[in-house]
Amino acid sequence: MPCGVPQSPVVTVASPGPGTLLAFVMATPIIQLSGLGKVFRANEVETHALSAVTLNVLPGEFVSIAGPSGCGKTTLLSILGLLDSPTAGRYLLTGKAVEKLSATERAGIRNRSIGFIFQTFNLIGDLTVFENVELPLTYRGVSTAERHERVREVLKRVGMTSRMSHYPSQLSGGQQQRVAVARAMVGRPAILLADEPTGNLDSRNGHAVMELLRDLHGNGATICMVTHDPRYAHAAERTLHLFDGRIVDGAESREGHELEESGFELA
Ligand SMILES: Nc1ncnc2c1ncn2[C@@H]1O[C@H](COP(=O)(O)OP(=O)(O)O)[C@@H](O)[C@H]1O
Ligand SMILES: [Mg+2]
Repeated sequence: MPCGVPQSPVVTVASPGPGTLLAFVMATPIIQLSGLGKVFRANEVETHALSAVTLNVLPGEFVSIAGPSGCGKTTLLSILGLLDSPTAGRYLLTGKAVEKLSATERAGIRNRSIGFIFQTFNLIGDLTVFENVELPLTYRGVSTAERHERVREVLKRVGMTSRMSHYPSQLSGGQQQRVAVARAMVGRPAILLADEPTGNLDSRNGHAVMELLRDLHGNGATICMVTHDPRYAHAAERTLHLFDGRIVDGAESREGHELEESGFELA
């Protein structure tokens, strides 16, 4: 297997108790990619952005993705987040084949289960901080009272309460990214995808954003984060290295060792 990440775990204990059952359920991957490929065709030029990517991510795992510019990191994250489709291979999200979903179903899953943080923040310029963070909940049809309560709660958590009525252009990069983190968090997504979230930030703001991601991870979110910064990659439990669209290393997984120690055998 190219990347050596945990595949279907096999329970090796003789008489599984409730704890074992829980561990087994916990160990069923939330993301399963097998032989995933992506070819872009533009002006008769083919770019193989991803080739034979096989990867499992367990619920609650924090995975970082590293690799040189152009190696396919953003493409991988876009496919994981259902913003783009693979041209080969399979993607099972919580066990369901995503290629079989309609556009409406994909949009629904994106809205309910996935939060994005981009390197360039991607806030909407003519909406206030409050409205930007509120938007995912508006799409979901959450009631006004609940929306307002949840937006206030996440803005407090990222330390942006005093800037609720500001527009993105009135904020520093670090503040904009904290708002983007709030927007990604407000829907309490099961999966958080972050594409170089600290790439445009100074180290103080970078640390602040990483603290928020660690908090989210502590609360059970599954995180896949692209980063060039080794300081931040260490926040993750596992680092996948991409090169020319292929996973070249990712076998060493702390999570995997913990599972082995707790009585699992990784196939
Ligand atoms: N929409 C697109 N059309 C054509 N080629 C693309 C497109 N998006 C990305 N690529 C190409 O795919 C490769 C991987 O890109 P990307 O995933 O953005 O890399 P990274 O995020 O690692 O810098 C690059 O060669 C890039 O030029
Ligand atoms: Mg990129």
